[in-house]
Amino acid sequence: MRAIIVDSQGAAPALREDVPEPTPAENEVLVRVHASAANPADNSIAAGILAGMGLEHEYPITLRRDYAGVVEQAGAAVSGYRPGDQVYGFVLHANPIVHDGAWAELITVTQELSIAPAPDGVDLAIAGAAPLAGISAIAAIDALDLSEGDVLLVAGAAGGVGSLAVQLAARAGARILAPALPEDEEFLRELGVSDVLAREGDVVQLVRDRVPEGVDALLDLVNYAPGTYDAALKPDARVASPTGAAGDGPGRTNVMATPSRENLERLGALLADGTLRIPVQATYRFAQAPEALAALAGEHTQGKRAIHIS
Ligand SMILES: NC(=O)c1ccc[n+]([C@@H]2O[C@H](COP(=O)([O-])OP(=O)(O)OC[C@H]3O[C@@H](n4cnc5c(N)ncnc54)[C@H](OP(=O)(O)O)[C@@H]3O)[C@@H](O)[C@H]2O)c1
Repeated sequence: MRAIIVDSQGAAPALREDVPEPTPAENEVLVRVHASAANPADNSIAAGILAGMGLEHEYPITLRRDYAGVVEQAGAAVSGYRPGDQVYGFVLHANPIVHDGAWAELITVTQELSIAPAPDGVDLAIAGAAPLAGISAIAAIDALDLSEGDVLLVAGAAGGVGSLAVQLAARAGARILAPALPEDEEFLRELGVSDVLAREGDVVQLVRDRVPEGVDALLDLVNYAPGTYDAALKPDARVASPTGAAGDGPGRTNVMATPSRENLERLGALLADGTLRIPVQATYRFAQAPEALAALAGEHTQGKRAIHIS
């Protein structure tokens, strides 16, 4: 079968046609993958960054995380899924070894994690772009516990997680400020951002100019350490981040996305009823997946880069 493989540490991701098809264990589901998306973690794996953090890697590694597809076969102990079911989810970046990924024509996942029924009426191409960013956005907005009228600062609002988190925050009644590029203005306003700030400017000052008392909450999707925007926060502000930028203390939550069935079903409901829209910036053919990763790292991102697998 075809898969996007990293052969050895530092090797460029490449399409290989001769990858052995996986066989499902008793508690596993074999899925034919139709759609996926590019995520920053894929680039981190390809660049060996996770290896540098001490995570064990078994090469060749199949890149990567999101998928939507159709059940091809279910192991003898699987009760919830049958051939022909449409399913979606994301595979963990390390389980516990960095090895398996979703950029393959066929993947296996256990029935307990990384799989749920695909949302009703949602194109698999959209469902496949949604899981990691969507669950991250939901977890972050849950942690911020927003109320009507709260002021939220989102750094990284134009990206995969940010473009979804903004929609959820707007639905909760928050006023959203977002540092971004001029070309993001219309895109972000349509998603629910009220104040687009120049991201290369003095963001703290720009926030204080608009909200002198400081913001109630911060979602930081950009920085890897806390503190960048602390001077823009009210003393008791809540902070959430999937990049470790929340720090420690009351109201500060470092978010980790988990592909549990419960989380996937919650995301699926938001997609199915139209509450959450997945803005797809571009769709790449399977063989172009490495180009999607290069674009994610080197070009400006608005929403998700989707991958058509089969
Ligand atoms: N812990 C978890 O479970 C988890 C889950 C999901 C994501 N994450 C992490 O969360 C981060 C965001 O993920 P993502 O998928 O949303 O990434 P993404 O799609 O690459 O989006 C990041 C966005 O932030 C923008 N940006 C960069 N610097 C900025 C700045 N100074 N001010 C405002 N915006 C800025 C980027 O613009 P440019 O394209 O111009 O740089 C891009 O639009 C990544 O580091 C990812 O690895 C962690």
